[in-house]
Amino acid sequence: VIEAAGLCVDLSMQRQSPALEAAAMSLLQARGVADARQALFAGEPVNWTEGKPAWHTALRAGRTREQPDGLDADSVCEYSRMTDFVRKVDQTADFSSVLHIGIGGSDWGPRLAIQAFGGPGQRRQIRFVSNIDGHAFHDAVAGLDPRRCLVVVSSKSFTTSETLHNARAAIAWLKQGGVTDVSEHLAAVTANAPAARALGVPANQVFKMCDWVGGRYSVWSVAGLSIALTVGADVLIGMRAGAEAMDQHFQQAPFASNAPIQLALAGLVNCSVLGHNSLNIAAYSARLLHLVTYLQQLEMESLGKRVAGDGTAVGVPTAPIIWGMPGTDGQHTFFQWLHQSEDGAPVDFIASLQGHTDSPDAHRMLLANCLAQRQALLRGKCLEQALLDVAHIDDQERALSLAQHMVHPGGRPSTLIVLRQLDPRGLGALLALYEHKVFVQSVVWGINPFDQWGVELGKRLATGIERELAVPVSAGVVDWGHDASTSYWIDRYRGHAQAPRSRHAWVPGVAAHL
Ligand code: F6P
Repeated sequence: VIEAAGLCVDLSMQRQSPALEAAAMSLLQARGVADARQALFAGEPVNWTEGKPAWHTALRAGRTREQPDGLDADSVCEYSRMTDFVRKVDQTADFSSVLHIGIGGSDWGPRLAIQAFGGPGQRRQIRFVSNIDGHAFHDAVAGLDPRRCLVVVSSKSFTTSETLHNARAAIAWLKQGGVTDVSEHLAAVTANAPAARALGVPANQVFKMCDWVGGRYSVWSVAGLSIALTVGADVLIGMRAGAEAMDQHFQQAPFASNAPIQLALAGLVNCSVLGHNSLNIAAYSARLLHLVTYLQQLEMESLGKRVAGDGTAVGVPTAPIIWGMPGTDGQHTFFQWLHQSEDGAPVDFIASLQGHTDSPDAHRMLLANCLAQRQALLRGKCLEQALLDVAHIDDQERALSLAQHMVHPGGRPSTLIVLRQLDPRGLGALLALYEHKVFVQSVVWGINPFDQWGVELGKRLATGIERELAVPVSAGVVDWGHDASTSYWIDRYRGHAQAPRSRHAWVPGVAAHL
């Protein structure tokens, strides 16, 4: 059990042995984890495919205004510009709602933090729109008064098509709603200020993200603007303080009692040695509703790679699939599979010692469920125990058969991460714990956790297909040069193709591309 930055990480239900520990230490040394960690914190270009640092840790250290060597002073000044802006918005009381537009790393952090710390005392309403689906946009603005709404466009690149489309839709919505000076209602968070200016955001309402912080680490940057506007800048300060405490622990604690390193090792054993291809996240907190999606991006966009630094295949499975939902909902959804399916999955249980002060009974039950589930996964239930449960059944054959259904194999690994209470500091420490775990695993697997080439191909294809979908029917039948299925659906959307006569009408064409 490791205490780190106010969190308690209980790894006692993971595989352990002196031999495994010795092997793990040799592995960390052989893979150069200590040097890699130093390079990360020193702002070296650890994102080697893009030749950039991944210096989100500097933003946390910047919190104190004691700038680490070489830190771009602008990033620190941007915080004060951002908080001044929030103060101005609070003073004028012009805006009763915020429409936050962004996707991926420009969306999940604010969603997570606002769900965690919003609620009754919230400063103003917040709506999010990330998806390019028109339903999403219309649902997001339903019931909002455009004259009292501030639109925050968050995009590091300011080229993401979903975000730009939704931003234009928001501008049209403001105009239709009678807003005369639309620019006053726009703020942007981006590393591409000229593009934000071109959209009509006034320079004094554009807040600069740094190029040396990856999109999925944006929550530590001024991308926290919507958090500050909704639940207060103190939440951001607290989160950064918690993350900074975890940074210090990660840098200073010996490997054997280093929480991110030990969590990473448990994951490496589960994934690369025991062959578990997924990791379930079970947060026993309704307020951590968005934690799973946040971690899905952090872990899967970072580790979903198959090529090492020299371009050769890694050769072992890397990123586990991250999935889950808050406990106890998960217990009534998929825990059956965790307990009794043939393979199951490792679980990270996350809980806090204190819950809502008005509902101590509910919190006691929540915690009891969390502890019970991990005990059930570890210990399981053997046939002898199950037979005791059916001892009242006279028919011996039926009793035995039923008992066999009640057997839980057990021996299923889990970690328990405990926060004293869910506060901004605890959340910041928790997110940094996972960031550093992912980093350590990437070093061991030899992959770059800071790029995301895998999302580029689909994006590029979508641009071409979108153009083709817009080609009018009058243009006649066009040979799109796609696989048969894609061409069929382009034509069908354009009103050219009929429903397939049979699946054989086009399946062979698809197969040719497989
Ligand atoms: O999904 C790919 C990605 O580039 C993420 O890494 C990023 O968080 C997201 O798109 C949004 O990018 P941006 O902030 O540039 O709009």
